[in-house]
Amino acid sequence: MQRIIPETGGMIGRIDVHSHLLPGVDDGCRDLTESIACAKRMVEAGYTHSFCTPHIWPNLDNRPSNIPTRVRTLQQALDKAGVALKLLPGGELHLSERFCQTPVTELMTYNGRGLYALFDFWTQRFPVHFGSCLSYLRQAGIQPILAHPERIEAVQNEPEQLLEWVEQQGLLLQCNLECLGESVLSPRRRLAERWLVEDRYFLLGSDLHNLHGLEVRLQGLKRAIELVGEDKVQELTHTNPVKLIGN
Ligand SMILES: [Fe+2]
Repeated sequence: MQRIIPETGGMIGRIDVHSHLLPGVDDGCRDLTESIACAKRMVEAGYTHSFCTPHIWPNLDNRPSNIPTRVRTLQQALDKAGVALKLLPGGELHLSERFCQTPVTELMTYNGRGLYALFDFWTQRFPVHFGSCLSYLRQAGIQPILAHPERIEAVQNEPEQLLEWVEQQGLLLQCNLECLGESVLSPRRRLAERWLVEDRYFLLGSDLHNLHGLEVRLQGLKRAIELVGEDKVQELTHTNPVKLIGN
């Protein structure tokens, strides 16, 4: 299914909601050649749009004031190379202890609309500031979306705790295609598959970092379709991602 959204200038197929496509700004694509190669492969796999969601860490210079310009620069390179992938700005916030001190203007949201934000954290237990960070986002009018919960140790250790945030606080979850393409023995894959079947996810994203790791993610897309069917995957890679773009 495709439909037209004027702002993005064309038909929309699958939308990748999580990617490190921007060259040389984090641990994602190293240079423009790699960014173009990854984008080309995503188009071949049925994607028409991708959010660029670089890591937003204090030691990296990724901010709402420079991400859109970098996205436009990469877009020009893709256009020149004849790669039909439309890029949109976003970011992957990190829920550190100091997160609540981040000025609202520094909170990168999907398409810069101030409505949805992707975030991660990497602790073994839920940090004490988890709830206050979510409240901070909500008070700023932003709906938090947790990136790849199945990859996070705290979530693996206390999955029920996360589901409480989902059910009681309306936290949304983004599943990583990578986990679905891993070995069947992987606990991350088991959790991702369980929650996919239980309809816990709002989004499915690639979290692509480089060309080498892209194929396992595309295998994950196939596995998702096998597990829950094309209609459900369409909801997670098209219908819900369209809400992040806006009109
Ligand atoms: Fe990421």
